[in-house]
Amino acid sequence: MYVSGLWWIGRAHFFLLLLVPGILGWGDEGHYATCKIAQGYLTEEALAAVKRLLPESAGGDLAAVCSWPDDVRRTPNYRWSAGLHFVNPPDFQCNYNYSRDCHDSAGNKDRCVSAAIYNYTLQLSTAYRNDSSVLESKYNLTEALLFLSHFIGDIHQPLHVGFVGDKGGNSIVVYWYQNKTNLHRVWDDMIIYSALNTFYDSDLTTMIQSIQRNITDGWLNEVSSWRTCPNNYIACPDPYASESISLACKYAYKNATPGSTLGDDYFLTRLPIVEKRLAQGGIRLAATLNRIFTHPSKIAVA
Ligand code: ADE
Ligand code: ZN
Ligand code: ZN
Repeated sequence: MYVSGLWWIGRAHFFLLLLVPGILGWGDEGHYATCKIAQGYLTEEALAAVKRLLPESAGGDLAAVCSWPDDVRRTPNYRWSAGLHFVNPPDFQCNYNYSRDCHDSAGNKDRCVSAAIYNYTLQLSTAYRNDSSVLESKYNLTEALLFLSHFIGDIHQPLHVGFVGDKGGNSIVVYWYQNKTNLHRVWDDMIIYSALNTFYDSDLTTMIQSIQRNITDGWLNEVSSWRTCPNNYIACPDPYASESISLACKYAYKNATPGSTLGDDYFLTRLPIVEKRLAQGGIRLAATLNRIFTHPSKIAVA
């Protein structure tokens, strides 16, 4: 793993880290990375379908619009989508169960990130099963593509499957080096910002290239298992949610009590987890889009 080669970097170096803007809302960089990685693994047919669905503003680049659902979740027309970005297991349950956990705060069932992934997969795959219905779909398939691509990123962020009582870490105030923030933002943004500044010359493209290299050598033996869904399903978000809450317990919540200061030790031990989740999100988004746009098969009913 590349981190082992970087231990020699002096501690003083890490001080340069963090007066980075907190404006981008995973975070924009995480979603950009996931979608950029995914694009590199699309079949020709899937890439063509994606490009046809993308809005003009994307300039043919899915990554450019992968944060759109975060941009609109607080606007009146899209308030209904705000609860679809995450799922919360009960406090201190380090496992995930769709029928127990997938509901909104009012208790309405099938309102969570996992259900949203099934839903948008079904809209797209139904429309693409025979080409003529693409034109007739009653759904906005451009929005379906953007929501699906975004939510597959979100479900890989361990704290998007965090405990209900702390809102996936949002209500756990911590210091990231000297900066007051919360644990959720540490995992959406701060670890990625610090990695960019410390290891990647503040260049997201360089960071993405490093993750892509790990996919083709470091994680090569695991990648084909990342792609597969049980039972020939087109989309399988539930195993991703299970992995996320497990990682949240083992890495995100661990040693991150309210008021604590997180620094080099937390950063350097958690960054490899973040990078692997970005890689898995990208590979699985591509695999899902390839299944949607290349051959019809069985779809899970949420
Ligand atoms: N974002 C907003 N509310 C959230 C929650 N309860 N869990 C995870 N992410 C969230
Ligand atoms: Zn988030
Ligand atoms: Zn989101």
